[in-house]
Amino acid sequence: VHDWGDALILPGLIDTHVHLPQLAYAGLGGQPLLQWLNEMTFPTEARFADASFAERASERFFSSLLAAGTTSAAVYLTVFEQAGDLAFQAAAASGIRAWMGKPLMDIRSPEALCESTAEALASMQRLIDRWHGVGLLRYVVTPRFALSCTPELMRQAGEMARHHQCLVQTHLAENLDEVAAIADAFPQSEHYTAVYRDHGLLDKALLAHCLHLDDAELGMIKHHHGCVVHCPASNRFLQSGVFDAARMRSAGIDWSLGSDVGAGYGPSMLKEMREAMETAKTSALFGRESSRMELRQALAAATRQGARALGMEQELGALEKGFQADFIVLDDAAVNEFAGSRLFQSPQERLQRVVYRENARAVQATWVAGRLRYSRH
Ligand code: GUN
Ligand code: ZN
Repeated sequence: VHDWGDALILPGLIDTHVHLPQLAYAGLGGQPLLQWLNEMTFPTEARFADASFAERASERFFSSLLAAGTTSAAVYLTVFEQAGDLAFQAAAASGIRAWMGKPLMDIRSPEALCESTAEALASMQRLIDRWHGVGLLRYVVTPRFALSCTPELMRQAGEMARHHQCLVQTHLAENLDEVAAIADAFPQSEHYTAVYRDHGLLDKALLAHCLHLDDAELGMIKHHHGCVVHCPASNRFLQSGVFDAARMRSAGIDWSLGSDVGAGYGPSMLKEMREAMETAKTSALFGRESSRMELRQALAAATRQGARALGMEQELGALEKGFQADFIVLDDAAVNEFAGSRLFQSPQERLQRVVYRENARAVQATWVAGRLRYSRH
């Protein structure tokens, strides 16, 4: 039995979109997406061909997530199979729950990262065989985005996902130049969302960003039970657009939250909750009155809705009987000069204070599956 005194205890936070190789430059750059990919992302991802670099980066990544209070994450790796193995090993050693996959890239990608279709599929198959369902780890089929994939690669990846019962994760409609490039590259599909549908990748997929979609696309996502991942820090940092949570709600589409490190500037999901609420306020200021987001809604997005996106709503995202013991301990006194007084001490005020202030200092302990996996000091 642990006595955490007067601390706050919350369900473990769930990050449904984050890139392992991008932590080193989180907070740097900030160019529009396609330029940022070429200047920041692809050169750094190429370094993961070096196994010792990949190993150290993987260890730091999972420690950083656990220290931020993240107990479950959907993670993009790099194309390199060996770096993939090292990432799964590091995740297992850290004790985190992780859904991870190598990004698929066989066209329109820098030489150092571009694989043949056959290579991409074969190494994905081996990673699935070695890691899918091992302990707390699952493989996620990860077409990076349709721009980096041939139709053949997407079709076969979709079949593998169905065959092995893997989730699919990808990016969708993040940036207007990206959307225009997709229209050029896939003239046969009626719109961006249809590109994934036409290649068998849309069912229950985790779809990051979804900033520039029309109503027909929202209808298609709903029909295929896709789950949209809102990445508020990233969306502003790369000047991508403004997410419309109210529109998703009225379209009946589930959405969860993602840090999108390193387009997002850090792994904290408490910070993403704050960013989601502040984004919603900005929307409201510009006339989308229905956009306001309460603290409890942001918390649900970082917990229950994340669990639902991962197909784990019966086990994760809440502190309830029969659920997994994934939880975090927040020492909110660390960010409250008036701790111990009677000023603003309701549970809701205490949580909001942590969300809005330097919340990294407040995460005291992180437990996954009943085991202590991070402890401050
Ligand atoms: N679209 C394709 N790849 C990426 C990536 O690594 N980050 C973001 N934010 N968008 C992408
Ligand atoms: Zn991303």
